[in-house]
Amino acid sequence: MSTNTSFAIHDKGFTKTLRKDNWWLYPALVVFGLTSFLVYGLWSAWQADFYWYSAGQEGFGGYLAPFYSPPLFIKEGVAGAAPMSHSIFGPWPTWWPSWIPPSPSLLILAVPGIFRFTCYYYRKAYYRAFSGTPPACAVGALPRKRKKGYKGETGLMVVQNIHRITMYFASIYIIIFFYDAYLAFFRGGEFGVGLGSILLLGNPILLASYMFGCHSIRHLIGGSRDCYSCGLGGDIAHKNGMIVGWFNRRHELFAWISLVWIMVADLYIRMVSMGYINDPNTWNF
Ligand code: FES
Repeated sequence: MSTNTSFAIHDKGFTKTLRKDNWWLYPALVVFGLTSFLVYGLWSAWQADFYWYSAGQEGFGGYLAPFYSPPLFIKEGVAGAAPMSHSIFGPWPTWWPSWIPPSPSLLILAVPGIFRFTCYYYRKAYYRAFSGTPPACAVGALPRKRKKGYKGETGLMVVQNIHRITMYFASIYIIIFFYDAYLAFFRGGEFGVGLGSILLLGNPILLASYMFGCHSIRHLIGGSRDCYSCGLGGDIAHKNGMIVGWFNRRHELFAWISLVWIMVADLYIRMVSMGYINDPNTWNF
Protein backbone atom coordinates (compact mmCIF):
# COMPACT_ATOMS: atom_id res chain seq x y z
CA MET A 1 0.00 0.00 0.00
CA SER A 2 1.46 3.36 -0.93
CA THR A 3 1.05 6.36 1.34
CA ASN A 4 1.32 9.87 -0.06
CA THR A 5 2.64 12.08 2.71
CA SER A 6 3.15 15.27 0.68
CA PHE A 7 0.42 17.86 0.74
CA ALA A 8 0.11 21.57 -0.02
CA ILE A 9 0.73 23.62 3.09
CA HIS A 10 -0.90 26.73 1.67
CA ASP A 11 -1.60 28.38 -1.64
CA LYS A 12 1.42 29.87 -3.25
CA GLY A 13 1.36 33.47 -4.45
CA PHE A 14 1.89 37.02 -3.34
CA THR A 15 0.52 37.66 0.20
CA LYS A 16 -0.85 34.11 0.45
CA THR A 17 -0.39 32.78 3.97
CA LEU A 18 -1.90 30.75 6.76
CA ARG A 19 -1.14 33.50 9.25
CA LYS A 20 -4.19 34.89 10.98
CA ASP A 21 -2.54 37.95 12.57
CA ASN A 22 -2.30 41.44 11.06
CA TRP A 23 1.07 40.68 9.42
CA TRP A 24 0.45 43.39 6.80
CA LEU A 25 0.45 46.16 9.42
CA TYR A 26 4.23 46.22 9.91
CA PRO A 27 5.19 46.57 6.22
CA ALA A 28 2.39 49.13 5.78
CA LEU A 29 3.79 51.23 8.64
CA VAL A 30 7.30 50.93 7.18
CA VAL A 31 6.08 52.21 3.82
CA PHE A 32 4.26 55.08 5.50
CA GLY A 33 7.17 55.96 7.82
CA LEU A 34 9.97 55.85 5.27
CA THR A 35 7.94 57.58 2.55
CA SER A 36 6.97 60.38 4.96
CA PHE A 37 10.60 60.82 6.00
CA LEU A 38 11.83 60.89 2.42
CA VAL A 39 9.18 63.36 1.26
CA TYR A 40 9.63 65.63 4.27
CA GLY A 41 13.44 65.49 4.08
CA LEU A 42 13.53 66.45 0.41
CA TRP A 43 10.92 69.16 0.90
CA SER A 44 12.77 70.65 3.86
CA ALA A 45 16.13 70.55 2.09
CA TRP A 46 14.65 72.25 -0.98
CA GLN A 47 13.26 75.20 1.03
CA ALA A 48 16.72 76.72 1.71
CA ASP A 49 15.31 79.13 4.32
CA PHE A 50 13.98 79.39 7.93
CA TYR A 51 16.43 76.90 9.38
CA TRP A 52 17.71 79.16 12.17
CA TYR A 53 16.14 80.88 15.16
CA SER A 54 17.68 83.07 17.87
CA ALA A 55 14.79 85.49 18.48
CA GLY A 56 16.79 88.15 16.67
CA GLN A 57 19.55 88.01 19.29
CA GLU A 58 23.13 88.14 18.19
CA GLY A 59 25.97 86.40 20.00
CA PHE A 60 26.46 82.81 21.06
CA GLY A 61 23.43 80.56 20.84
CA GLY A 62 20.37 79.78 18.76
CA TYR A 63 18.49 76.88 17.21
CA LEU A 64 19.84 75.30 14.04
CA ALA A 65 17.50 72.89 12.24
CA PRO A 66 19.18 69.46 12.16
CA PHE A 67 18.58 68.89 8.44
CA TYR A 68 20.74 71.98 7.84
CA SER A 69 23.61 71.07 10.13
CA PRO A 70 26.45 71.58 9.57
CA PRO A 71 26.08 74.53 7.15
CA LEU A 72 29.12 74.24 4.88
CA PHE A 73 28.15 77.50 3.14
CA ILE A 74 25.53 80.12 3.95
CA LYS A 75 23.68 82.36 1.53
CA GLU A 76 23.37 85.87 2.91
CA GLY A 77 20.07 87.70 2.79
CA VAL A 78 17.92 84.57 3.00
CA ALA A 79 15.02 84.69 5.50
CA GLY A 80 15.71 82.56 8.56
CA ALA A 81 19.30 81.78 7.54
CA ALA A 82 21.99 81.19 10.16
CA PRO A 83 24.54 83.97 10.75
CA MET A 84 27.61 83.80 8.53
CA SER A 85 29.77 82.97 11.56
CA HIS A 86 28.18 79.50 11.55
CA SER A 87 29.31 78.74 8.03
CA ILE A 88 32.25 76.35 7.85
CA PHE A 89 33.55 77.55 4.47
CA GLY A 90 32.01 81.01 4.25
CA PRO A 91 29.52 82.59 1.80
CA TRP A 92 27.51 80.60 -0.68
CA PRO A 93 29.66 79.59 -3.72
CA THR A 94 29.10 81.45 -6.98
CA TRP A 95 29.43 78.25 -9.05
CA TRP A 96 26.19 76.86 -7.58
CA PRO A 97 23.61 76.35 -10.38
CA SER A 98 20.91 79.02 -10.20
CA TRP A 99 18.07 76.51 -10.69
CA ILE A 100 18.95 74.70 -7.46
CA PRO A 101 18.02 76.52 -4.24
CA PRO A 102 21.06 77.67 -2.20
CA SER A 103 20.29 75.19 0.54
CA PRO A 104 23.02 74.09 2.98
CA SER A 105 20.90 71.00 3.57
CA LEU A 106 21.32 69.73 0.01
CA LEU A 107 25.08 69.60 0.57
CA ILE A 108 25.03 67.42 3.65
CA LEU A 109 22.01 65.12 3.52
CA ALA A 110 23.65 62.42 1.41
CA VAL A 111 25.89 60.91 4.09
CA PRO A 112 23.26 60.37 6.81
CA GLY A 113 20.80 59.38 4.09
CA ILE A 114 23.11 56.66 2.71
CA PHE A 115 23.99 55.57 6.24
CA ARG A 116 20.34 54.93 7.04
CA PHE A 117 19.56 53.47 3.64
CA THR A 118 22.30 50.85 4.01
CA CYS A 119 21.60 50.07 7.69
CA TYR A 120 21.07 46.34 8.21
CA TYR A 121 17.77 46.93 10.00
CA TYR A 122 16.35 49.32 7.39
CA ARG A 123 17.38 46.94 4.62
CA LYS A 124 15.26 44.21 6.15
CA ALA A 125 12.39 46.63 6.59
CA TYR A 126 12.33 48.07 3.10
CA TYR A 127 13.16 44.84 1.29
CA ARG A 128 10.03 43.45 2.87
CA ALA A 129 7.81 46.51 2.69
CA PHE A 130 8.71 47.90 -0.74
CA SER A 131 9.76 44.86 -2.74
CA GLY A 132 7.63 42.24 -0.96
CA THR A 133 10.27 39.55 -1.13
CA PRO A 134 8.61 38.35 1.07
CA PRO A 135 6.50 41.02 2.81
CA ALA A 136 6.62 39.07 6.11
CA CYS A 137 7.64 35.69 7.48
CA ALA A 138 5.60 32.81 6.05
CA VAL A 139 3.80 35.11 3.60
CA GLY A 140 3.96 34.60 -0.15
CA ALA A 141 6.47 36.82 -1.97
CA LEU A 142 6.12 38.76 -5.19
CA PRO A 143 6.93 36.40 -8.04
CA ARG A 144 10.44 36.87 -9.38
CA LYS A 145 12.21 35.65 -12.44
CA ARG A 146 13.81 32.38 -11.56
CA LYS A 147 17.56 32.57 -11.38
CA LYS A 148 19.99 29.89 -10.46
CA GLY A 149 20.60 30.01 -6.73
CA TYR A 150 20.01 32.72 -4.20
CA LYS A 151 22.30 35.66 -4.86
CA GLY A 152 21.55 37.73 -1.77
CA GLU A 153 23.27 41.09 -1.64
CA THR A 154 25.71 40.43 -4.42
CA GLY A 155 25.81 42.04 -7.85
CA LEU A 156 24.41 45.55 -7.73
CA MET A 157 23.40 45.23 -4.09
CA VAL A 158 26.98 44.74 -3.00
CA VAL A 159 26.97 48.54 -2.81
CA GLN A 160 25.27 48.11 0.57
CA ASN A 161 28.73 47.37 1.98
CA ILE A 162 29.37 51.11 1.92
CA HIS A 163 27.54 51.15 5.24
CA ARG A 164 30.71 50.39 7.21
CA ILE A 165 32.39 53.44 5.63
CA THR A 166 29.49 55.88 6.02
CA MET A 167 29.39 54.82 9.66
CA TYR A 168 32.60 56.79 10.29
CA PHE A 169 31.24 59.92 8.62
CA ALA A 170 27.84 59.61 10.30
CA SER A 171 29.53 59.51 13.71
CA ILE A 172 30.96 62.99 12.97
CA TYR A 173 27.38 64.26 12.57
CA ILE A 174 26.56 63.10 16.08
CA ILE A 175 29.40 65.21 17.51
CA ILE A 176 28.15 68.17 15.48
CA PHE A 177 24.57 67.63 16.69
CA PHE A 178 25.78 67.61 20.30
CA TYR A 179 27.44 70.95 19.63
CA ASP A 180 24.17 72.25 18.10
CA ALA A 181 22.36 71.08 21.25
CA TYR A 182 24.86 72.98 23.41
CA LEU A 183 24.30 76.05 21.24
CA ALA A 184 20.55 75.68 21.71
CA PHE A 185 20.85 76.29 25.46
CA PHE A 186 22.09 79.83 24.84
CA ARG A 187 20.57 82.89 23.29
CA GLY A 188 22.65 86.03 22.86
CA GLY A 189 25.23 84.41 25.14
CA GLU A 190 22.72 83.90 27.96
CA PHE A 191 21.94 80.40 29.24
CA GLY A 192 18.34 79.23 29.11
CA VAL A 193 16.08 76.36 28.12
CA GLY A 194 13.43 76.23 25.45
CA LEU A 195 11.42 73.46 23.89
CA GLY A 196 13.80 73.74 20.93
CA SER A 197 16.77 73.12 23.27
CA ILE A 198 15.16 69.89 24.49
CA LEU A 199 14.39 68.73 20.95
CA LEU A 200 17.92 69.50 19.78
CA LEU A 201 19.42 67.68 22.77
CA GLY A 202 17.24 64.62 22.28
CA ASN A 203 18.32 64.41 18.65
CA PRO A 204 22.00 63.43 19.15
CA ILE A 205 21.18 61.27 22.17
CA LEU A 206 18.72 59.20 20.13
CA LEU A 207 20.98 59.15 17.09
CA ALA A 208 23.89 57.96 19.23
CA SER A 209 21.66 55.26 20.72
CA TYR A 210 20.72 54.18 17.20
CA MET A 211 24.29 54.31 15.96
CA PHE A 212 25.78 52.57 18.97
CA GLY A 213 23.72 49.50 18.11
CA CYS A 214 25.12 49.45 14.58
CA HIS A 215 26.41 46.05 13.47
CA SER A 216 29.50 47.68 12.00
CA ILE A 217 30.33 49.32 15.32
CA ARG A 218 29.79 46.05 17.14
CA HIS A 219 32.26 44.44 14.79
CA LEU A 220 34.69 47.34 15.14
CA ILE A 221 34.89 47.56 18.90
CA GLY A 222 33.55 44.23 20.08
CA GLY A 223 34.28 41.79 17.32
CA SER A 224 36.99 40.82 14.81
CA ARG A 225 38.72 38.44 17.23
CA ASP A 226 38.54 34.69 17.73
CA CYS A 227 39.00 34.55 21.47
CA TYR A 228 37.41 36.72 24.17
CA SER A 229 39.25 35.06 27.02
CA CYS A 230 42.74 35.53 25.59
CA GLY A 231 44.16 38.50 27.41
CA LEU A 232 43.18 42.08 28.09
CA GLY A 233 42.24 42.89 24.46
CA GLY A 234 39.73 40.06 24.42
CA ASP A 235 38.29 41.13 27.75
CA ILE A 236 37.79 44.72 26.58
CA ALA A 237 36.26 43.56 23.30
CA HIS A 238 33.88 41.31 25.22
CA LYS A 239 32.73 44.15 27.48
CA ASN A 240 32.36 46.45 24.47
CA GLY A 241 30.37 43.78 22.71
CA MET A 242 28.02 43.47 25.69
CA ILE A 243 27.35 47.22 25.72
CA VAL A 244 26.85 47.49 21.98
CA GLY A 245 24.75 44.34 22.16
CA TRP A 246 22.28 46.10 24.48
CA PHE A 247 21.80 48.86 21.92
CA ASN A 248 21.88 46.37 19.08
CA ARG A 249 18.90 44.48 20.48
CA ARG A 250 17.01 47.78 20.47
CA HIS A 251 18.35 48.92 17.11
CA GLU A 252 14.98 48.87 15.41
CA LEU A 253 13.41 50.89 18.22
CA PHE A 254 16.10 53.57 18.16
CA ALA A 255 16.08 53.59 14.36
CA TRP A 256 12.44 54.67 14.35
CA ILE A 257 12.46 56.99 17.37
CA SER A 258 15.53 58.86 16.10
CA LEU A 259 14.03 59.10 12.61
CA VAL A 260 10.78 60.64 13.84
CA TRP A 261 12.55 62.85 16.39
CA ILE A 262 14.91 64.49 13.92
CA MET A 263 11.99 65.16 11.58
CA VAL A 264 9.92 66.73 14.39
CA ALA A 265 12.91 68.81 15.60
CA ASP A 266 13.59 70.08 12.09
CA LEU A 267 9.95 70.97 11.45
CA TYR A 268 9.62 72.60 14.88
CA ILE A 269 12.55 74.94 14.31
CA ARG A 270 11.25 75.81 10.87
CA MET A 271 7.83 76.66 12.34
CA VAL A 272 9.39 78.73 15.15
CA SER A 273 11.66 80.53 12.69
CA MET A 274 8.67 81.33 10.45
CA GLY A 275 6.73 82.65 13.45
CA TYR A 276 4.00 80.00 13.35
CA ILE A 277 4.95 78.60 16.78
CA ASN A 278 5.99 80.44 19.93
CA ASP A 279 8.87 78.56 21.51
CA PRO A 280 8.17 78.15 25.26
CA ASN A 281 11.42 79.03 27.01
CA THR A 282 13.08 80.53 30.08
CA TRP A 283 14.61 83.52 28.29
CA ASN A 284 11.32 85.37 28.34
CA PHE A 285 10.85 85.10 32.12
S1 FES B 1 23.36 48.36 11.06
FE1 FES B 1 21.90 49.89 11.44
S2 FES B 1 23.13 51.64 11.65
FE2 FES B 1 24.61 50.10 11.16
